[in-house]
Amino acid sequence: MVEIEIVEPTGLPLNELLGLYESVGWTTYTRAPELLRRSVSGSHRVATARRDGHLVGLARTISDGATIVYLQDVLIAPTEQRGGLGRRLLTILFDSYGDIRQRVLLTDTEEGQRAFYERLGFTETHDHEPALRAFVRFG
Ligand SMILES: CC(C)(COP(=O)(O)OP(=O)(O)OC[C@H]1O[C@@H](n2cnc3c(N)ncnc32)[C@H](O)[C@@H]1OP(=O)(O)O)[C@@H](O)C(=O)NCCC(=O)NCCS
Repeated sequence: MVEIEIVEPTGLPLNELLGLYESVGWTTYTRAPELLRRSVSGSHRVATARRDGHLVGLARTISDGATIVYLQDVLIAPTEQRGGLGRRLLTILFDSYGDIRQRVLLTDTEEGQRAFYERLGFTETHDHEPALRAFVRFG
């Protein structure tokens, strides 16, 4: 059975985080373990999925707790993907914000991700009515 819960962001051991982020190939984080530790522990909320105690999924948000919540990461271990865990993690996290107005995220153009987020009720900004623009600046 998989246990899903919202956890204390500072309470997750770095070796567990590294293992999970490595499993999905997110080297930007795993090449900089201290940055990974700071980013997870500095998140507004973190939800985890554990199978038999082992970390198999995580999602984390950035938020003011009142008007806007950004989803920063959601990742499910490859052996557990397409089993509903991504949906469960985002549901528990977003439900915890009640009727907060803006739920926002940025992701790459991989089609599976578009399908996943659309299944969860998100709309790409260029498809949104009324029209929206999203801007980003890296580095
Ligand atoms: C993207 C990711 C989080 C999805 O989590 P998941 O547990 O596999 O997804 P779920 O099983 O909860 O799927 C929820 C819905 O999205 C759909 N979906 C999920 N991945 C999909 C894909 N690749 N293609 C099409 N549909 C997909 C599911 O079919 C399901 O639809 P349903 O409402 O009909 O049941 C997971 O694949 C992952 O961790 N990928 C690697 C990391 C990543 O890319 N994270 C997202 C970018 S921030």
